[in-house]
Amino acid sequence: MSAQNAPTPEPRTTAMSFKAAKGVRRLVMLTAYDHHSARLVEAAGVDAILVGDSLGMTVLGLPSTLPVTMEDMVRATSAVSSACSRALVVADMPFMSYQPSYEDGMRNAGRLIAEGGAQAVKLEGATEATLALTRGLTESGVPVMGHLGLTPQSVNALGGYKTQAKDVAAAAKLLADCVALQDAGAFAVVLECIPAELATAATALITIPTIGIGAGVGCDGEVQVFHDILGLGDFLPRHAKRYAEVGDAIVEAVGAYAADVRAGAFPGDGQATHVDAEVVAEARGVLGGGRGSAR
Ligand code: KIV
Repeated sequence: MSAQNAPTPEPRTTAMSFKAAKGVRRLVMLTAYDHHSARLVEAAGVDAILVGDSLGMTVLGLPSTLPVTMEDMVRATSAVSSACSRALVVADMPFMSYQPSYEDGMRNAGRLIAEGGAQAVKLEGATEATLALTRGLTESGVPVMGHLGLTPQSVNALGGYKTQAKDVAAAAKLLADCVALQDAGAFAVVLECIPAELATAATALITIPTIGIGAGVGCDGEVQVFHDILGLGDFLPRHAKRYAEVGDAIVEAVGAYAADVRAGAFPGDGQATHVDAEVVAEARGVLGGGRGSAR
């Protein structure tokens, strides 16, 4: 194919185009934590890939997101970014990468962009400090996605992984936090595990996209965890749906491989290379002294 006839590459989703899609089309986001998963997720045509700190549970076998480090996130983000040319890559700021100080937050967000290759970062909550950081990052050219409702980094304060903002005061605070994040410059906000009616109201209230998970269908888009929708985890959260049983397919394929190896049916001749028998005979001669002659 000549350079003239080469297909035009699809334009990259940016934080700006993601934001501009509100009210035009529904936005699709999925997590990924490594190069080849990200390659497949991008090939499926999602708008954005979240390198979530859920990698603590999905990849590292940790009990929560709390022990996830900046090193974990930078390495995973770089693996995902290296596979993506079209999807927007958003990296989670892990626990204690921004809570101790504004400076920590600025520096660590910068690492996810500069070393990880992300185009945006995600922060949980809408405290004064988080809003100031959202403002500072946005002004420095780092797009910020907010995250409200069930914010897993605060699981100890929330008393568990449960639906948030169910009474009037908490619902009003969530709506106020949505507006505050928007005003601080966030380009989108994840709404996790809140009542569907509240998510719909938040979506109507603000001009940036709301991305739901466990928040009903009234958001501007949806985010889910790779392992949940593909059947790779050992349990399915109530807000998730399995679109494939990839875990079962892996067990079946590895079982078939193991059976072939045990039966001497793999590797076959198609996976082998050959040399003339004299080469081996001469090599045995070089080894000399009859060593190994029993073979
Ligand atoms: O880490 C993650 O996967 C997330 C999503 C659940 C929104 O933050």
